Amino acid sequence: MGVKQRIKTIVPHRVWRVLQGCKANMTLASYYAGQRKRFLRFCAGQWNVGQSEQLRGTMVYYIHRIEKGLSHRRFRAGFGRSAFGELRSVMDEWRERDYPVDDVTYIAARQVVRAYVRKHRALEKPIPEFVGVWFADEVASVDIESVEQAEKADVAGNAGVKTVRAADKRDNASLDYAALFAGRSSVREYAETPVDMGTVRKAVSMSMKTPSVCNRQAYRVLLISNPKFIEQALALQGGWRGYDAPPVLALISVDVRSFVSVEERNEPYIDGGLFAMAFLTALECESLAACPLNTMMREKQEHEIRKLLGVPDYETLIAFVAIGNFPESIESPVSFRYDASVITRELN
Ligand SMILES: Cc1cc2nc3c(=O)[nH]c(=O)nc-3n(C[C@H](O)[C@H](O)[C@H](O)COP(=O)(O)O)c2cc1C
Repeated sequence: MGVKQRIKTIVPHRVWRVLQGCKANMTLASYYAGQRKRFLRFCAGQWNVGQSEQLRGTMVYYIHRIEKGLSHRRFRAGFGRSAFGELRSVMDEWRERDYPVDDVTYIAARQVVRAYVRKHRALEKPIPEFVGVWFADEVASVDIESVEQAEKADVAGNAGVKTVRAADKRDNASLDYAALFAGRSSVREYAETPVDMGTVRKAVSMSMKTPSVCNRQAYRVLLISNPKFIEQALALQGGWRGYDAPPVLALISVDVRSFVSVEERNEPYIDGGLFAMAFLTALECESLAACPLNTMMREKQEHEIRKLLGVPDYETLIAFVAIGNFPESIESPVSFRYDASVITRELN
């Protein structure tokens, strides 16, 4: 019999459990210390500038913020001073470090500025001075385009907005997986018609085929259709500013009580993330418009959300999903994608 087994037979069961708890606590502290170290050392936080991947991540972040501003139904001309300022400085640094200016992200950064200029020109709104000063080349390049060139660029460009139409979504259930998956986009503004909750529940049922670690199936879904709760939850969430509340809001969480060892500490996020993707695809298949929303709130906001929605402490928050019917036509950020070769490594 090994030492561990001998101790287990000698000490009272209650004491054994306390000892196991102490051991788990120490192991977990060391795992989290490792995770903390990696994140602090490599993420694109301001203390870590310089590597191309960090600059790329930062550029995409600001491109996306500008795309969201461009897609608003209630468009606010002249928006984005701080996002453009940040984008400009990260693009400057990109060039100073001699990273390639034909990089897809750098091109998207230039493209989003052009999309911004085109939208203002089309609406006959003045281009704000900060854009003219920081992005003179991009503004000038739009000014020499013909109308035809501008239309083509808007459609083919890798940044800006695209139009999503309800008519294109009606037969989603008959599409094959590749077409359905490629056709999904985050939609943040919805038709004013009520959402059929039976269809949302069907999407949850479809998502139950999500794989999970040792089949734990610990994901949980809270479906919220009371406007008061939706509005308050989204005000706390913080990533929905400028949009009307969606008719339905789902909260995906994972019950930590299903996990058996400290090595599984990250599994709630993996299983919950897989479930979230399955759910988004199922909603798309059911011709419902949706947008995933982060739950990366500060402690106080998270506490308030839990209290507001009655989410128990033993559940880890994964993501919200805003849900509604597709409006006849709506603009949505392009959210360009890298080619698969950019993210694939092969080891033969
Ligand atoms: C985990 C997660 C959190 C997100 N949080 C937000 C959010 O808070 N606000 C928002 O408008 N979009 C949010 N999004 C949507 C992303 O911006 C969007 O998925 C991304 O730009 C890709 O675009 P697509 O979904 O249209 O393909 C989130 C997406 C994910 C996966």
